Amino acid sequence: MAELYPLLVVGAVIGTFTLVFVIAYALMKNKKESIGFDRNMKDSEIIVRLLKYARPHWASFLIALVIMLLSISYDIIAPIIVGDIEKLVVEDFELSTLFLKVAAYAGILAVSMLCTYFQAIILQKTGQKILSSLRQDLFTHIESLSHNQLNNIPVGKLVTRITNDTNAISMMFTNILVTMVKNVFVIFGVLTAMLLLNYQLTLMVLCFVPFVVLFTWIFRKFSRKAYRAVKDGTTDINTYLSENLSGIKITQIFNREDKKMEDFLEKSTNLRKAKQKQIFVFGVFRPMVYMLYISSVLCLLYLGGRGYIKDTVFLGQAVSANILVTFYMYISKFFNPIQTLAEQFNMLQSAFASAEKIFTVFDMVPEVVDEPDAIELDEIRGEIEFRNVWFAYNPGEWVLKDVSFKVEAKQTVAFVGSTGSGKSTILSLICRNYDIQQGQILIDGVDIKRIKISSLRKHFGQMLQDVFLFSGTIRSNIVLREDTFTDDEVMESCRYVNADSFINKLEGGLDEVVRERGNNFSAGQRQLLSFARTVIHRPAVMILDEATANIDTETELLIQDSLEKMKNIGTMLIVAHRLSTIQHADNIILLSGGKIVEQGNHQELLRKKGRYYQLYTLQYNKMQIQNR
Ligand SMILES: Nc1ncnc2c1ncn2[C@@H]1O[C@H](COP(=O)(O)OP(=O)(O)OP(=O)(O)O)[C@@H](O)[C@H]1O
Ligand SMILES: [Mg+2]
Repeated sequence: MAELYPLLVVGAVIGTFTLVFVIAYALMKNKKESIGFDRNMKDSEIIVRLLKYARPHWASFLIALVIMLLSISYDIIAPIIVGDIEKLVVEDFELSTLFLKVAAYAGILAVSMLCTYFQAIILQKTGQKILSSLRQDLFTHIESLSHNQLNNIPVGKLVTRITNDTNAISMMFTNILVTMVKNVFVIFGVLTAMLLLNYQLTLMVLCFVPFVVLFTWIFRKFSRKAYRAVKDGTTDINTYLSENLSGIKITQIFNREDKKMEDFLEKSTNLRKAKQKQIFVFGVFRPMVYMLYISSVLCLLYLGGRGYIKDTVFLGQAVSANILVTFYMYISKFFNPIQTLAEQFNMLQSAFASAEKIFTVFDMVPEVVDEPDAIELDEIRGEIEFRNVWFAYNPGEWVLKDVSFKVEAKQTVAFVGSTGSGKSTILSLICRNYDIQQGQILIDGVDIKRIKISSLRKHFGQMLQDVFLFSGTIRSNIVLREDTFTDDEVMESCRYVNADSFINKLEGGLDEVVRERGNNFSAGQRQLLSFARTVIHRPAVMILDEATANIDTETELLIQDSLEKMKNIGTMLIVAHRLSTIQHADNIILLSGGKIVEQGNHQELLRKKGRYYQLYTLQYNKMQIQNR
């Protein structure tokens, strides 16, 4: 009886830990709603969609699999060789046989290492290729979303999808999948070898397996929760960063650094805590499996080593010293993959969660799309008509109410009205940034819904309220990646819009570096560059939103002069708060609360003595006061 005491101690330790875990698990189960990855897609659906990306690389995966199987041979054969060496040393020692066996061991080790190396290289390469095509598809898809859809997703979230989430998927292809398969093979391989060698000892080792399964099951629940918290924390911090880094200057101007710092600190702390929890969960799980491993080793040594080590009888079968050594090695090779398998299963779940997030973005059907029978418009005259157009950004909140007007080809039409009256909205509807709910918009008599979007937008040059310059050079910002333009053509368009004078003063000229959002240029300079960008493409319709706001008189004169010249290129639609800019327009449309209240040319509207007259006299008097 006394000889069973050590085994009882081991059993008691394992039993206590199991009890603690089961209780912890039961307590956690009460908060069920906060567990899991909130997935709506089935694993099978995600796998099928992911396989679409892996399919072109099936040959690489196959090679990696074959190499992996080769590398497993080390795990299976090495313990047998070590056991043999032990036998050789104890029994009839022969130096040449020892050399042979050591050389065999070294050879297998070398082959296994080489295999692991090549397998990693092949998988990394393939994984990166898959990752890159997934990223590209995602980016292209995001580009196809309508303004409305893009308004509803924070930029930081999209950045997280394209970077972190695609990374999690790449991890799956490069690492998780193959190692999982490898581990399954190793487990079964080792198990078979052990059974063949000594099935009684193998049964003893198997006694520990139910505990491993139980611990793994509990660990899965905890780690899922931890993974999710880390993911949410990362998205949260990325969203916050992308917005606040863009607006950091406003933060500084309004002295809000401390408040923003507090917010950031909170998010950063949340992420830190989530990571710590994750580390804690892994930190508990690993030693638990290690404890089971140690326990089984202790049992092996105790049961095998009782009495004489040489040919001890255990459950009726003889246990020799070399079997003990071999088993000792096998047990470690058995528990290791079990532990990593559980961890990798979780990483797989996490990758699936990322995949679902990515596929949710993919599943956003672009709202503004070509109709099946949409036509190409190669040339347009530039005639624009709004027929009883009703439009709302949000259902029911009409921003444009029954707006109708007509612009003849090559005419210049100005939109004026108080802020929020719908001027910019009209301009963005013409290019189909949004679809209207009622009415029709026609270009040269063709409904814009019947024209291919790319074909439609090709004919427009948009100079928006907020000029956006990309980081690059002045040239790249004017030609916008179309490299068919020569330097002379670029310079000519700059001269046309009076942007040449400031460009010539720059050290780099057209090659001068433009920093992010063009923040090394003044508002007026950015405006002139956006004119040059428009003019070089010679669009049939030019759209200009409030270009003349907030610039000095000298630049305003330059801009007015270039506007005059640009009128010769095609139809022009201008929104301007300064009425002086649009006096020469063929038609001026005055909006109020989304409705057209007056229209006509400058003189006609002044004669009417209506809203336009009031606005004009107000601005005129203000200018007089300023000039005094
Ligand atoms: N993306 C959007 N989502 C929801 N509502 C919007 C959106 N853009 C504009 N609006 C609303 O539509 C109305 C018209 O906006 P719009 O930008 O057309 O005004 P605007 O006449 O150009 O004003 P401003 O002179 O200040 O530029 C406003 O009440 C605004 O709140
Ligand atoms: Mg506007």
